[in-house]
Amino acid sequence: MSSVRATVLGQERARGRNLKLAVGLLLAVLAGPGVSALDNGLALTPTMGWLHWERFTCNVDCQEDPENCISEQLFMQMAELMVSDGWKAVGYEYVCIDDCWLASQRDENGRLKADPKRFPNGIQHLANYVHSKGLKLGIYQDVGTHTCAGYPGSYGYYDIDAQTFADWGVDLLKFDGCNYKNLESLKEGYRHMSFALNNTGRRILYSCEWPLYIRPFQQPNYTEIRQYCNHWRNFGDIFDSWNSVKGILAWTASNQESLVPAAGPGGWNDPDMLVIGNFGLSWEQQITQMALWAIMAAPLFMSNDLRHINPQSKSLLQNKDVIAVNQDPLGKQGYRLRKEKDFEVWERPLSNLAWAVAVLNQKEIGGPQNYVFSISVLGKGLGCSPACHITQILPEKKELGLYEWTSHLKVRVNPTGTVLLKLKPIQNESGCFQLPHLR
Ligand code: GLA
Repeated sequence: MSSVRATVLGQERARGRNLKLAVGLLLAVLAGPGVSALDNGLALTPTMGWLHWERFTCNVDCQEDPENCISEQLFMQMAELMVSDGWKAVGYEYVCIDDCWLASQRDENGRLKADPKRFPNGIQHLANYVHSKGLKLGIYQDVGTHTCAGYPGSYGYYDIDAQTFADWGVDLLKFDGCNYKNLESLKEGYRHMSFALNNTGRRILYSCEWPLYIRPFQQPNYTEIRQYCNHWRNFGDIFDSWNSVKGILAWTASNQESLVPAAGPGGWNDPDMLVIGNFGLSWEQQITQMALWAIMAAPLFMSNDLRHINPQSKSLLQNKDVIAVNQDPLGKQGYRLRKEKDFEVWERPLSNLAWAVAVLNQKEIGGPQNYVFSISVLGKGLGCSPACHITQILPEKKELGLYEWTSHLKVRVNPTGTVLLKLKPIQNESGCFQLPHLR
């Protein structure tokens, strides 16, 4: 047990509280990477689900726009579709409410309440419905006095709010960082809510935005943040545009030295929602988002309208091979390996000595471009040593065959698109690596 983990647990004991999550602790320790994580046993692989914000924002006008306003009906419809349209079967599990679900005031006991017009049956009823579908419910609050959209925040009410969420049967809390008093109270608030959630005894996945809000003033301490959060946003909000997706990728690559070691089972960097299936990304750009979110071991929260999604986007979001890369149990985040003219090569180590490799063509003019590179640069020189079998996963599945360490690979990539590959080392029956022609 690391000294940081010991300190955190010690602090908790000192507060006379029990985690009651021994199983979770054991799982997290068994699966744990070098840096220890929040001991609630959750998010051992990146969380998958649906979150309303990017697509439905703060639409509270149910009179004018009943189909798209933030209401219990919206979440019930999404929950139903997540089961009937195969989303749950491939791993999307959490149906998540973002900002703008609250009434403008707390109740007479200081407890949060949902807007009574838009959530007439309350959140507990919605949680029961979501659970009846075999899914989990996520909710949103803020560490400060108000949420980003101006609804009552949790500041001064962390314990009451955590208990309220637990009483309602909530399974995930997205905890935003708007309207905080000062940096110290922001950090203290994130820590306090983590303890408060654990103290309820209910397993509630804790999604933070802590590093995003402190980064303008100081470098986030990821060792500490991992102790408290299951994932954390580092960068501004995603928009439904290529500019936004490419900005997130560029920022992530330029900060990968600090981000990549922070990720692992139990705690993940969160580059924000998948906007696949909406209006702003071309087909190639949707492929790029899916492939790179898999390489980055990112939580996969779709923010789209599952009632009206085109079959192509749906099949991309439900692609089992890409999801398997994202959910790989080794739990190591990938990184940008090289940037050469308009091409970027990203790679991610996977379990069983396999690697995922993404080749992205950043050129925004012209047609498909060839990129040829030496196999020996991949996987720290070991990805294909002495040989490997390469499968192309995206844009479509294709067996590319056997490659020796000395060979080159040529991929053809459309502008702003990505080719995603999986490399498997060649082994003989006794588990030793062997060149294919020697077998
Ligand atoms: C912030 C968050 C977003 C969303 C909005 C809601 O901007 O970063 O993801 O939750 O608040 O107001």
